[in-house]
This record gives sequence, C-alpha cells and structure tokens, in this order.
Amino acid sequence: MARLLLTLVLTLFLSLPAAAQEAPQAPEPDRSATGGAPTLEDILRRQRGEEVSNDYRRDSTTDAQTTPQAAPALGPLGGASDSEVWRDLRFNQADVKVSSRGPADRVLVQDAGMWWLQLRQGPLATYGGWLLLATLGLLALFLLLRGRIRIDGQKTGRTVTRFQPVERFAHWLMAGSFILLALTGLITLFGRPGLIPVMGKEAYATLAQGSKWVHNNVAWAFMLGLVMAFVLWVVHNIPDKTDLKWLAQGGGLFSKGKHPPAKKFNAGQKIIFWLVVLLGVSVSASGLSLLFPFELPMFAKTFAAINETGLPQALGYGALPEQLAPHEEMQYAQLWHAIVAFVMMAVILAHIYLGSIGMEGAFDAMGSGEVEEQWAREHHSLWLEKLQEEGEAPPRRGTASPAE
Ligand code: HEM
Repeated sequence: MARLLLTLVLTLFLSLPAAAQEAPQAPEPDRSATGGAPTLEDILRRQRGEEVSNDYRRDSTTDAQTTPQAAPALGPLGGASDSEVWRDLRFNQADVKVSSRGPADRVLVQDAGMWWLQLRQGPLATYGGWLLLATLGLLALFLLLRGRIRIDGQKTGRTVTRFQPVERFAHWLMAGSFILLALTGLITLFGRPGLIPVMGKEAYATLAQGSKWVHNNVAWAFMLGLVMAFVLWVVHNIPDKTDLKWLAQGGGLFSKGKHPPAKKFNAGQKIIFWLVVLLGVSVSASGLSLLFPFELPMFAKTFAAINETGLPQALGYGALPEQLAPHEEMQYAQLWHAIVAFVMMAVILAHIYLGSIGMEGAFDAMGSGEVEEQWAREHHSLWLEKLQEEGEAPPRRGTASPAE
C-alpha cells in the first residue's frame, strides 16, 4: 500500500519534467549568429516545455564558437551585451548585491518554476477535482444502494454520554477550521479557471484576498484542534483484535442488521483518526513552510531520507533531488500541501457523510454529546458494556444495578 502510494505521488511529481525529457529532441540550432547566446528557436522550445540544453552557454570562453565577441554581425560589442548579465542572473552566477538578507533574496530569476506552474494548473487541479467529485459520487451511490443506516433494534429512550464538552470542543474546532481551510484552499486553486469567468476579476480579487487571510489565520485553530483531538483520543485508537473482526465483517456497513462488536472507536473510525492525524501533521508542516517562506525548507532533507531507503531508485525514478533552490523548496511544499489536502478532503467527505445523513443517531454524539442507548449497543457494544460495568451508563434492562 505504502509502495503504491509512493509510486503514485512520485509519478505525479515527476510526470512533467519526465514528459519534457521524453519529448523528441530537435536538432541543436545553429547559434553562431548569436555568438552562442540563445536563439529564438531555443526560447520557443523552452516555452513548448521541451528540454533545452544549456551546455552551449558562454562559460567555455576558450571556444571560439561560443565566445560572444566572436559574432561579428551583432555590432561593436559582438554578442557581449546585457544579455550576459541576464544569463548570469538566470543561472545564479551574477555577483548580485541586495539590501535584504533572506535565504532566497539573491535569487532574482528562477526559471525552474514552469514545470511546477504547469503541474499546479494541470494535473493537480484536474486529478484533485476529480477525486472530490468521485468521492461525492460514490457516497451518493452508497446512499442509494444501502440507504440510511438505521437503528435496527427498539429505541430505549435512554441516553448515554458519548463525548464530554472538551472532546466536542476539540472536534468542532478541528472540523470547523478544516472546512474553512478546505473551502478557501479550493477558492485559491480553482479561482483563476473556475471563478474569474463567473464573477469577474475585481470581485475575485477581493474574495481571493479574504480567502488568503482566512486560510493563513484559521490554520492555527486547525493545528490546535488536531493536537487536542490527538491527546484526548489516542488511547482509544490503538489497534487491537476487535478491529480485525470488525473489518472482516465490513463493519456491518454493507448489510442490514449486522453489528460487529466495537469499543469506543471501531476500526473504521481508527483509520479515520490516524489518517486525520498523519495527514493533518503533514498538511500543517508543509503549510508552515509556506506561511514562513524560505525559513522552513524540508524537501531536500526528506528526499535525501527517501533516497536512503532506495525505494525511488528501485521503482525506476532514480534518486530524488537532494539539492534544491529555496524557490524549489517552496514549489514542492505547495504541491505536497495540496496533494495531502485533497486526500484529506476526500476522507473527510466520507466521514461527514457517516457522521450526519449516513447513519441515524450518529450526529448526536458530537451534537449534544448524548447518544441513544440502542445506537450505542449496535455500534459500540463493548464500549457500552464497559460503561455499564463502571456504572456510567444505565444498566441493561432486566439486570440489577450494583446499588439494587
Ligand atoms: C460537518 C462536519 C462533521 C460532522 C457532522 C462530523 C461528525 C462526527 C461525529 C458524529 C463523530 C462521532 C462519531 C461517533 O460517535 O462514533 C465524529 C468524530 C470524529 N470526527 Fe468528525 N465530523 C465532521 C467534520 C470533521 C472534520 C472536518 C474532521 C477532521 C478534519 C473530523 C474528525 C473527526 C475525528 C478524528 C473523529 C473521531 C474518530 C471518528 O469518529 O471517526 N470531523 N465526527
């Protein structure tokens, strides 16, 4: 599974540069007229996303073919002109002096961003959008085929406390902030192709600014909610034997009247919990890297650690880049942030469905904190029995309470 996931992510990450590399190589143009400087054909090839070799650059000054001054047709300076300065800037070789002192401030031109831009506007938005639509479609199909999961037995009219106020606060802090982050993130990614044509540039500019503000600030609430939920629920989410039985019966989700025993959280919920924690930490880390530009680079180190495992090499991708320019770090952080966020949104859509319209009685757990006793018996029987033993839930009808 992990291997499959890594293959998918690597494929997405590396697809564009690789596609560009696979593009048929046109014959090298004659650069004698420009004294070795790029020709119009070079520029057009780069714009088409084709690989353009930079080997011809003027650094081999001993070679008459590539020495700028050797181009007689270009005026008194030959090929030597400001373009030398621009080329040095582009390859980060110019002796630049800047007044600010940030890690990326001396990089004035960064032309490795095209593949990132194309990946962000193309496959990322397309596959991400389809993932969400497909998830919604599957949930609609599930509702159609299975219907709402009802409480099968006779309701008792008695309730059991499922979540304390602090647990519900943590849940809604995390949930409310996640929903805001998801919406504002989608507005940012799909704004240019999806919203500007509908609402115009002016209105979208205001919406985008607002979205950015909400996204950057609400992120803290999500991180706090995530930490609280982790601390409060981690003990109930350690996998155990009951999870195997629950999974073997599909959690009873696909057949009426089937209720495999479960503790406070069943195996499905444990999966959701760990996905939320792991993906939540990952989306937060890459988000912090974006929030503090160039201050928290993490991809070169991560790629080095992945290379150590030998997995990318074994999968035929070769070693991942371990030297990344500050801007490339940001580009990878943006892509990773969005990929993880899309996966999380898909998982959460399924969770929201089951926690609301998908299952009768489930919402009360996070609404009032009290659930119908029969709901607890059907979905979390071992948890209910434990509460009854501890005297924290009304004893089963027909069973004497310890006080009686
Ligand atoms: C409108 C949106 C949401 C609704 C209606 C909802 C509903 C619920 C309910 C009813 C439960 C308790 C289930 C039970 O008693 O067994 C729950 C648990 C939980 N929720 Fe949500 N939720 C929502 C959004 C979210 C979001 C956005 C996240 C995370 C980003 C989240 C994470 C969790 C986690 C980790 C649990 C505990 C594990 C589990 O039950 O799966 N929820 N939610």
